[in-house]
This record gives sequence, C-alpha cells and structure tokens, in this order.
Amino acid sequence: VPVSNIRNFCIIAHIDHGKSTLADKLLQLTGTVQMREMKEQFLDNMDLERERGITIKLQAARMRYVLDNEPYCLNLIDTPGHVDFSYEVSRSLAACEGALLVVDASQGVEAQTLANVYLALENHLEIIPVLNKIDLPGAEPDRVAREMEEIIGLDCSTAIQCSAKEGIGIAEILNSIVTRIPPPNDTSQNPLRALIFDSYYDPYRGVIVYFRVVDGSIRKGDKIYFMASGKDYFADEIGVLSPNQMQVDELYVGEVGYLSASIRSVADARVGDTITHFGRRAASSLPGYEEATPMVFCGLFPVDADQFPELRDALEKLQLNDAALKFEPETSSAMGFGFRCGFLGLLHMEIVQERLEREYNLTLITTAPSVVYRVNCANGDIIECSNPSLLPEPGKRRSIEEPFVKIEMLTPKEYIGSLMELGQERRGEFKEMNYITENRASLIYELPLAEMVGDFFDQLKSRTKGYASMEYSFVGYRESDLVKLDVQINGEPVEPLSTIVHKDKAYAVGRALTQKLKELIPRQMFKIPIQACIGSKVIASESLSAIRKDVLSKCYGGDISRKKKLLKKQAEGKKRMKAVGKVEVPQEAFMAVLRLE
Ligand code: GTP
Repeated sequence: VPVSNIRNFCIIAHIDHGKSTLADKLLQLTGTVQMREMKEQFLDNMDLERERGITIKLQAARMRYVLDNEPYCLNLIDTPGHVDFSYEVSRSLAACEGALLVVDASQGVEAQTLANVYLALENHLEIIPVLNKIDLPGAEPDRVAREMEEIIGLDCSTAIQCSAKEGIGIAEILNSIVTRIPPPNDTSQNPLRALIFDSYYDPYRGVIVYFRVVDGSIRKGDKIYFMASGKDYFADEIGVLSPNQMQVDELYVGEVGYLSASIRSVADARVGDTITHFGRRAASSLPGYEEATPMVFCGLFPVDADQFPELRDALEKLQLNDAALKFEPETSSAMGFGFRCGFLGLLHMEIVQERLEREYNLTLITTAPSVVYRVNCANGDIIECSNPSLLPEPGKRRSIEEPFVKIEMLTPKEYIGSLMELGQERRGEFKEMNYITENRASLIYELPLAEMVGDFFDQLKSRTKGYASMEYSFVGYRESDLVKLDVQINGEPVEPLSTIVHKDKAYAVGRALTQKLKELIPRQMFKIPIQACIGSKVIASESLSAIRKDVLSKCYGGDISRKKKLLKKQAEGKKRMKAVGKVEVPQEAFMAVLRLE
C-alpha cells in the first residue's frame, strides 16, 4: 500500500484496563490471526509476562484493513506497562503517529495512563480516547470521559465506547484509526533512518531488531550502520510482523518490520538507536537515544558455590537479550563468590532473578537491593557506590549524595491523609497537591529512591485499599546525612546485610532489623548474638537462644521410609539457606531490611 494508507499506532492503558484484550480483538477482526491459532493473548508471549499479567517486552503486529474499498496497513506497536520500562514506552510511542488511549470505564484515569499520555503528547501523537469495559454493570463512561477531559484536557466528545471482551465498538475503533491518525510523512527520498523500538536475542539467528522506517527504505542484503553503537552489519533478512515474522525484500518509509543480521548482542542494536545505510548515511540520528542506566543493584550468590560458573554463563546469556542488565563479580567473606548486578528497577530485578532460577535451574540468594550512592571522598575523588558494604569509612569521605525521584500519586480524596503520612515516613518532601476531579487528588513528592525500593508500592496499595496509583521519575542526586549500618551474626560481620540509612533513622532501623533477623533465622544448637553496629559501636542487639532440633524424635518405631521422608523435608527447607560462619541464614533474612515495621 502507498505510504498514505499506512497507520502506525500504539495502545496506552493502565495495567488491567484491557490493552491486551483489545489488541487481540483488533487482530481477530482484521483476520490477522484466526481464533483457533490464537493463544489467549497473542501479544504478551512471554510466559513470565502472562503469569504476572503484565506486558514487559514490546511487540508489533501488522493488520490489513479495508475501509470504503481502500486497503490500509495498520501497524500496532505494543508498549510495556510498567514504570521500569518507561524508556522503551517512549521509543515505541516515537515510532507511531497515533495512540488509542484505553481507560476502564468502571475505574478512571490512573497515574500510569497519565504519564504515558504526556509522553504521547510530547511525541505529537493523535490520541483517540477509548472507554473500555462498558459491558460491566459498574461502568460509567460519561463520568470517566468527563474525568479524561478535566485531567488530560482531551476532547472526549468523540470517545469510543467499547467492550474488548464482548467485541463491542471494535470496528469503530479500526475506522477511527484510519480516519483520525495521520499517515507517516513521505520522506522516501531521504537517506535511510529507522528507529529501533525493540530487539531480542534469538539463539539461532542472533539479535532480531524491530524497527520503524522513518525516512528512506531498506532492502534485504543492505549494509547497515547503527548510529549509536557504531556497528555495521548486513541485513540478511528483513520482514514484517503479521504478527508472526514474514520475510519481504524491501521495507519503505512508514513501514514497521524486523531484521536479522547475525548481531551477537542486543547492546549492538539497542532500543532507541537509529539504523542508516553504511554507504549513504543520514546526517543525524533520530532524537531521543538514551543509554540504559541501572538504578538498583543487588548481590546474587549461588547457594551452592559450585554453581558460580553456571551463574556467570546464565547472566552472560541474559545480557545478550537485555542491554540494561549489568553485572560484575562480587566476593564476600560471608557469601563467597557471586555477582553484583544492576537493574532498571525492582520489577526488572525480580524478572531476572526468576529467569535465572527457572530457565537456568540455579538456586540463588539475593541480597537487599541498593541504589547507587555518590560519595565525595576526603581526597577529592568522587566515587559511585552501589554496594553498602564498600562505602568508604567516615574519615575517608566528606559527604554522600543519593538519587532522588519525583513521584506522583493519584488517589481518591479519602486516602490523602494516609499517603501524606507515607510520604513523610519515607523522607519525602511535599511538592504539590491538586484535585484533578471532585473526588480524586494528585500528590507530588520528591523523595530518595532508596526509600522507594522495597515495599513502597505495596504500602501505597494497602493504605488506599488498592485505589491509588503512582508514577515516578529520576530528578537528580542530593546530599543526605547517611550512615552505614552493619550487622554481625555470632560475632561475624555479614556484609550483605549492611545497609545505608539516614542518620535519624539508624537506631530505629537497627532495632527493627535485629528483631526481624531474630525471627527469621532458625534457632540453632547454640546461642547466637545478632547485632547492628555503626562503625564499631553496637546500636542494637538481640540474642537467639539455642534449641536442640531433632526432627527424628517424632518418629515412632524404626520405619526407615518415614525417617527418610522427614530428612528429605528438612533438606528442602534448607535449600535457600546460606551458611554464614556456623549459622544458617535463610533468603528472607537478606531481604529483611526492606520489610521493617
Ligand atoms: P496489562 O497487560 O497488565 O497491561 O493488562 P491489559 O491492560 O493488557 O489488560 P488485559 O487485556 O489483560 O485485561 C485485564 C482484565 O480485564 C482481564 O481479566 C480481561 O478479561 C478484562 N477485560 C478486558 N476488556 C474487558 C471488557 O471490555 N469488559 C470486561 N468485563 N472485562 C474486560
């Protein structure tokens, strides 16, 4: 089809508002996928994603649609739905001319929706409001449409009412995509510029790059050049996503497709990079490229020291597919050999951990996540420290800076008080409060990222019965009065339990942490002191009394199979333990600092 008949769009929605369900219906109605070949949700095709009900990786699908006897090519570019991946969202939006803004008509606008709408507006996208789930008895499309007008300032008189589940309003949505979203600009004569909005590593073909041709065109076999990574390759295969990969010879301006070029790591073809021709290079790359900066770090240690080489191999493999994952070896006297790993955020961290365990069969101990501190040393050096146990001694440092984020929370007005308390407890600085509608308010705080790592999101949800939502962005480094809190178990320092806390909170954290550890560490045959210290000063101390734990004592008679079963059960219980000196410390203990009362 000519470029004037191409429409590139994405779907913006808060988690659970129905993005995947709607995408499925669009694919069905355009005959792109037949019902029977459809998995439950075609676009979210990673197992982990489906289990968690979230979209992590972007995907794309090309649909054919005929309106008034004109054939159109509609490219849907999927966007991930979590704050950790907001950079990827921004690149997929940049590859589109329009967006469907899907809002659950029984709920309303959420923080995540807002953040993505602002991104879409920055990218000058045409936004089509869609009110989903009108089949629900609690749906209030008129109220929600008003809310959207008030909050976003979007004309919602033409909002489409739909039920993705029941298939209502789907044709109307397709028609609006054609009539309201502008076609791509025809810049076919310019040198090639294609925006990468996703890439993944395929063990057989190397990296598969998903891109949108912004200027010019690309042919199979072309020698291409990645402007940010500076690498060049031959485009062995190019194709479209319908939604399965289908080879073609050429992709023209405005089109969306994939290529493979025996690229060995996604770091060579990162999301946001611009592809041009090696011979006829574009003068400048497309705007908006950013390196992935890990925001949180944690230690990963194999429970079984023999698994260290396997852990390294697994991390190397995952990195081929995840340019944001960073790692380097870490050794600790308590934990042995492991890796210090950097992630975009907590969800990213959990996903990597889970994949290491599931796909690579590793049993790991994960230490509590830490942010990256900036330390101004006495000798004038500035060092970055992502491992609390390596923080320079007080005499060797002048000051410590920590990353701050700005967070926006949207909440029904009755919970404003509880959220303000939460902000206060987390060293937040109150910035602004606005009523976005009669019943809902937006609260803006700036607070240390370290205070958000851990249970902040859970707290936000539990203090508002699940009604509040949030969004955050990094605002910069600021000096804080921080100290390092160390933990000793049975007289031995356990570095992975070290944590950096604000001076005013140190005593409370020390007390709560030693109490929590006392609960979590199983009693052993001898008495175990648990202490929290600042430098050499003990600030809190607990003691775990001894117990004689004989699992076999419950056995009557000499039934050997029963005995074996009990012993096996005990062995399983030990799986996630790490021997620190003579003391077995369970996984939960390493995360204890995140869940203090
Ligand atoms: P993420 O992938 O987590 O971002 O969620 P999503 O926005 O893709 O939502 P999804 O399509 O998975 O839908 C969330 C839930 O809402 C599912 O249980 C759907 O069955 C349900 N749902 C989606 N559309 C409708 C609708 O029109 N009516 C009703 N009643 N339920 C719907």
